[in-house]
Order: sequence, then C-alpha cells, then structure tokens
Amino acid sequence: MAESMKGLKRSYRCGEITTANIGETVTVMGWVQKQRNKGGIVFVDLRDRAGILQVIFEESECGTEYFEKAGKLRSEFVVAVVGKVCKREGAVNENLATGEIEIRATEVRILSEAETPPFPIEADSKTKEELRLKYRYLDLRRPDIQKNLILRSKIATTIRAYLAEEGFLEIETPILCKSTPEGARDYLVPSRVHPGNFYALPQSPQIFKQLLMCSGYDRYFQIAKCFRDEDLRADRQPEFTQVDMELSFVDVDDVIAATEGMVARVCKEAIGHEVTLPIPRMTWQEAMDRFGSDKPDTRFGMELVNVSEVVKDCEFGVFTGALAAGGSVRGINVKGQAGIPRKKIDALTAFVKDYGAKGLAYLAVQEDGTYKSSFAKFMTEEQLDALVKAMNGEKGDLLFFAADKNSVVWASLGALRCEVAKQLEMIDENKFNFLWVTEFPLLEWDEEAERFVAMHHPFTMPMDEDLQYLDTDPGRVRAKAYDIVLNGVELGGGSVRIFQNDVQEKMFKCLGFTMEQAYEQFGFLLNAFKYGVPPHAGLAIGLDRFVMLLVKADNIREVIAFPKVKDASCLMTDAPNLVDPKQLDELEIALKVQPCTENE
Ligand code: AMO
Ligand code: AMP
Repeated sequence: MAESMKGLKRSYRCGEITTANIGETVTVMGWVQKQRNKGGIVFVDLRDRAGILQVIFEESECGTEYFEKAGKLRSEFVVAVVGKVCKREGAVNENLATGEIEIRATEVRILSEAETPPFPIEADSKTKEELRLKYRYLDLRRPDIQKNLILRSKIATTIRAYLAEEGFLEIETPILCKSTPEGARDYLVPSRVHPGNFYALPQSPQIFKQLLMCSGYDRYFQIAKCFRDEDLRADRQPEFTQVDMELSFVDVDDVIAATEGMVARVCKEAIGHEVTLPIPRMTWQEAMDRFGSDKPDTRFGMELVNVSEVVKDCEFGVFTGALAAGGSVRGINVKGQAGIPRKKIDALTAFVKDYGAKGLAYLAVQEDGTYKSSFAKFMTEEQLDALVKAMNGEKGDLLFFAADKNSVVWASLGALRCEVAKQLEMIDENKFNFLWVTEFPLLEWDEEAERFVAMHHPFTMPMDEDLQYLDTDPGRVRAKAYDIVLNGVELGGGSVRIFQNDVQEKMFKCLGFTMEQAYEQFGFLLNAFKYGVPPHAGLAIGLDRFVMLLVKADNIREVIAFPKVKDASCLMTDAPNLVDPKQLDELEIALKVQPCTENE
C-alpha cells in the first residue's frame, strides 16, 4: 500500500548531499536502485536525477517497524527516507559523488511500489534499443540519458541567455502552416472546417521569420520544432528542433559572428570547451576538392587529390572514359596500409558503390618499392611513378582512385575517407573541429526532374559578383549561403535572403516557376516585400545534433526524450495509428487503401 508523504518535505535531492551536510537530519525521496540485507543492516541505494545516495537501516536506530519496511524494499520502489547525514563508515565509493557520506535512516515510507522493470535501470545499458524505447519512461531514468537531457536543458538556457543579451527577441511562429519550401516532404494535417484542405507542419519557420524582418523585429530567434517527412538516419528525426535566427541590416559576416559567439558560449558553459574564434572558413569548392564533402571532417587528413591531368594519357579506359565524359579521376592516400588484405579492399569497393561509384581502383606501394595494382597493366612504369608521386605515395602506402563525374567521385571518396579513418581509428575523438563552409552553389541540377532546384531554399541571395549569370548560366552562380560543420556533421545552415523582387523573380524562373505559381505559393511573402523590406539574413542550428555531438552520442535518439525510430514510428505510444472512422468522417476523408495495421 502506498503511503502518503504528508508531514514530510524533501530537503535535498539524493545526489546533492555532500560532506558539508554531515550532522544534518534530512528528508530525501527517490527510487530504490538496489537493496541489500547484510545480517542486521539493510543497505539501500536511493536514486534521483542528481545521483545515488547510500542509506543504512539498523534496527537499533530506526526501530523495528521501519527496519522491517526497509527489508521489503525492491528496485524502483519510490520511497521517502528521513535520516542523519554521516561520514561513511565502510569504504569510500569514489565512483559516487556522494561516496564519502551515507544516511543513517530513522524513518522510511513507501510512496509507491514497482513491478520488476523489463530491464535494469543502469548506465551503459546493454539492453536492446527497441526494448528501451518501448519503455522509454524507464529508459529515461538511466543516468546517461538523464545526463544528456539535463545538458540539453542547460544548452537551451545558455542559448536563450546569450541571444537575449545580443538583442534577439524570442517569437513563436505557427505549427499549422502552409507548406514551407525546405525541400523535404511535408507532414500534412487535414482541415475539418475546410474539407479537402490541408495544413502543412513547418519544415522550418523560414517564411515567418522573413516576414518578422519585414515587420521590424530586427533580431529574431526561436527554439523551434520542425517537421520533415524524409528518410531517417543516425542524425535525422522526422521532428527535430532548430535554434532558428534571423537578422536585419546584415550580411554574411554578421550572421557568422552572431552564431560563433553563441556556439562558443554553449561549448564553454555546457562542456567547458573553449572554441577558438574565429572558426575557420572554407568555400564549398575547396571543401569538395579537398574532402569530397560539403561537411568535411577536418580532424584527420587523407585529403583527395585530383590526378586527372596525370592519368589523362594512360590506357586505362575507366580513367580516360570518365575524363572524356567530363568527369575526373581523384584519389586518396591511406598511409601505411599497403598490406591490407584483398578482402578488405573488396569490402571498401562494395562500400563506395553505395555512393554511385562503379568501382574502386587501387595501387599499393609495396615495401620493396614495386606496385601492386588493379590497373598497373594499363599504364607505363613512368605513368605509374608520376601517379604515385602526385599522390605523395611512399613505401607502404595504399592509394585508392575513383573515376566518374565529379559528384560521384566526391561522394564516394569523401565517404571512403571517413570510413577508412573510422576503421583505422585515425580520428581524435577529443577534438571539436568547427568549420564554416561558404559560397555554396545557388542551384543544383535535378537529373530526375530535369531542372534546377534550390540548394538551400528559393530565397537565398546570389553572390554579388555572380548575379550577372543568373539569366545566362545559372549553374555557375554561387550563393551567400553558409553551413556550420562540427566534426563532419552539418550542424546548421543559413543564407542571406533575396529582398529585391526582380532578383526573386529571376530565381523563381530558374527554378521553373511561373510568377503566377510563385504568387500562389508565396504571394504573402512577395507582397510583404512590396511594403518596405530590410536586407536580412539568418541561420538555423540543429539543436539535437549539437547536443548529440557535445555529449559524443553516436545517435540523435540519445538526446531526445521521446524519439522516433527509423520508420518514423514511436515504439512507446505506437504512433502513427489508425483513427476512429468517425474522425475520418468528420474530416470527410475516405481511405484509398486498406490501412496498414503494423503499428496497432
Ligand atoms: P536547414 O534545412 O539546413 O536550414 O536546417 C538547419 C539545420 O537543422 C538540422 N536538421 C535536422 N536535424 C535533425 N533531423 C532532421 N531531419 C534535420 N533536418 C535539418 C541540421 C541543419 O543544419 N530555414 C533554413 C535555415 C535558414 O536558412 O535560416 C533551414 O531549415 O542541423
Ligand atoms: P575492371 O576493368 O572493371 O575490371 O576494373 C579494374 C579496376 O578498376 C577494378 O579495381 C575496379 O574496381 C576499378 N574500377 C572500375 N570502375 C571504376 C571507377 N569508375 N573508378 C575507379 N575505379 C574503377
């Protein structure tokens, strides 16, 4: 039977009591981590979000009734204990913050009993994630997840404080919206009042924050929930949180400075890490050429080398064919790995095929100076020497080459570089390498749709010097767009926005919109611009990703209280689920398909 806590008031959290409290009589409340009965003494480890506290029950001190009650405690019972803080009599436990003290109990009340949990509540859980997520409310009791969520809260508080000091206003924007043009699929919400019409959940507050600039709120921020119906990965969730900002009367450098200040403050206050400012910058072109990625991990080298010039006259059709088709041949040098077994090379070849590569050519510079290679027979000795030299190859090195159109070469070697570094443990996990990637292309050619799509979004401003090509050669126009990258993960991104109607019209034209279509979709924004719009720019940081990287979690789910799994379902609540046919009737929705009942 659950007892009441009437007459008792919690004086401290379990984990907050220290040697400074010795001699005090305290009341603590929490969950039983563990209970042991050792011949006349009952030891109870009591847990709350601040930590674990050892409580001792001896019959001579607490009396028979409480001693017997202590003997009945089981894991996860919720109890209140009154007792005296004493110096620990047994061995000091250095693993516990409260390891030098213990509570000698004088009273205990069982506030609620608990069934045996389906898995132990402990750090470094070996429990399968599916089970943990089904019982997320229990999983959230585990100290490592609690640590993550507590830090996440602290980071959000730090961000709010910093941005408020910098003159930003926190303004909320709607969740029931018209579709925002962020490029992913929308989540739709049917309207009851307007049958057949739908709201879209915001992919970001993009348009609203630009409207706020038109309305004069010259520095806005929001810790905003965003929704994107896209394929999930380790660093992606269907609903996630952005630290979203927009500033008026600014250019690229101002947004970068504001973001750097915030990021540095968070790193310092959350994990005591000092970020060296300014954060290095690299153009998109340089990032692709050197790292094959627009989010380079700069914690290690193994950079890409363009060897197109060196191999252009060889007889290896794979190389010359790619060059003839307008592509390139590039390589990476894996130092000291000439001896790796063929099987490993085959596995890496299979790996790059996921990135569109048709194969992976290799050349090992063996210890005796000879070459072992998948393409040596197509090249003269001089050509091979020149290639090895271009790659800075030395005895013992293993060189990999990809030949294809640039996008495939970059994607496959960029990914290979990271995969090899991971396998060979070349990455210093203690580093926090921030990087700005700037001057992104404005547009990207979509082969399927056979048209340009916006690389960032349709409101991104072209670079001043490239504006002239917007009509004639849109593919070469670079944008005032920037991403902030941390350890090879895209942490955030933003851009300077177009604020002139004529530029915006040209942009829509490049994207294949007629002005009628543009007005239909974004008329309110284009109209707002007619009434006095300040030049403005902004950026959004992925808060979940930021926390994930700061706590060194390898999955975004570890820093989100109630995350979704890969198929976008929630294992705890079983969302999404079937709804009552009455609800569909109200919405005047008829299902075209027999609904899938997998999640029921
Ligand atoms: P962007 O689309 O680059 O920009 O998003 C900004 C940041 O949000 C995070 N993010 C995600 N995090 C988790 N799961 C996802 N599915 C997900 N998608 C994005 C990333 C990303 O860098 N409106 C613009 C910002 C602007 O221009 O101001 C925008 O949303 O960390
Ligand atoms: P093949 O002539 O197809 O047997 O290929 C010879 C070598 O070139 C093998 O090591 C292949 O993995 C590699 N290879 C094939 N296509 C490519 C490509 N597009 N880029 C780099 N290497 C390739």
